[in-house]
Amino acid sequence: MTPVFEAKELKVSVTGRRGERELVKGVSFSVEPGRCLGILGESGSGKSMSMKGAMGLLDRSFRVSGRVSLQGEELLTKSPEELRRMRGGKVGMVLQNPMTCFDPLYRIGNQIGETFAAHQGWSRAEIRSRSLEMLERMKIRNPEEVLEKYPHQLSGGMLQRIMIGIAMAMKPALLIADEPTTALDAITQLEILNEFIRIKEENTAVIFISHDLNAVSLAADEIVVFHQGMIVDRGDFRHILHRAKDPYTRLLAEKRTAVMRSYRRALEGKETIYA
Ligand SMILES: Nc1ncnc2c1ncn2[C@@H]1O[C@H](COP(=O)(O)OP(=O)(O)O)[C@@H](O)[C@H]1O
Ligand SMILES: [Mg+2]
Repeated sequence: MTPVFEAKELKVSVTGRRGERELVKGVSFSVEPGRCLGILGESGSGKSMSMKGAMGLLDRSFRVSGRVSLQGEELLTKSPEELRRMRGGKVGMVLQNPMTCFDPLYRIGNQIGETFAAHQGWSRAEIRSRSLEMLERMKIRNPEEVLEKYPHQLSGGMLQRIMIGIAMAMKPALLIADEPTTALDAITQLEILNEFIRIKEENTAVIFISHDLNAVSLAADEIVVFHQGMIVDRGDFRHILHRAKDPYTRLLAEKRTAVMRSYRRALEGKETIYA
């Protein structure tokens, strides 16, 4: 199958007072429709920089090179305006801190509506019904009331689910989720992870970035391991867990805790972690 997204020898460097520093040192990866690629690596390994570089989210102090394509179109030569239009359209992005993605001064309903209006051209009535539908799909209780709320009146988990819901309603070809579960408690994490698994069923390609092997193992079909700006290993979860040769990957695998096992059992419905 043709990949939705493909990065080849992607490099990102930054120029500072002490000259140029390479943050991402030539990484290659791709993801196909309906599949989830997990990007795993410790904090500072270049996970966010590689996606920001690919999506044109870095300012002029950074230099991005290599090749990046989305549905066969080369991204690194596109203008900032073209890239902006793509994000929120063909590409949905879900970031670590949902609070920073919502304007504290506007009601949730207005913010959802604005995004829908900008990208889909729906009427007011249609926007309202689609907003309610989306909130219900994301298992938000009392959706009518939630539309009237301000961001600070909702929990981090609810905002995160709403952000994923908005991104999904755009029916993106690619969804990039950067540490989407890091700030959440275990139960909410599991719910959010289930959303990502569901998203794949709609044929969207997902890039799931996390420093947490447990989270990655649940959502991803294939995993690439980042270490100091390079990919040091790749394969499915079993490979990472049992057959990885790279010492850093082995360390990550060994650090995994019993939490993962209880997650898996909860997912299979054999055990509930809600008790
Ligand atoms: N704005 C910035 N300017 C310069 N260097 C940065 C900036 N943001 C991050 N870095 C550096 O880039 C490297 C990769 O960071 P990042 O991609 O954010 O890591 P990760 O997402 O894997 O935690 C780190 O060494 C970090 O210190
Ligand atoms: Mg990051």
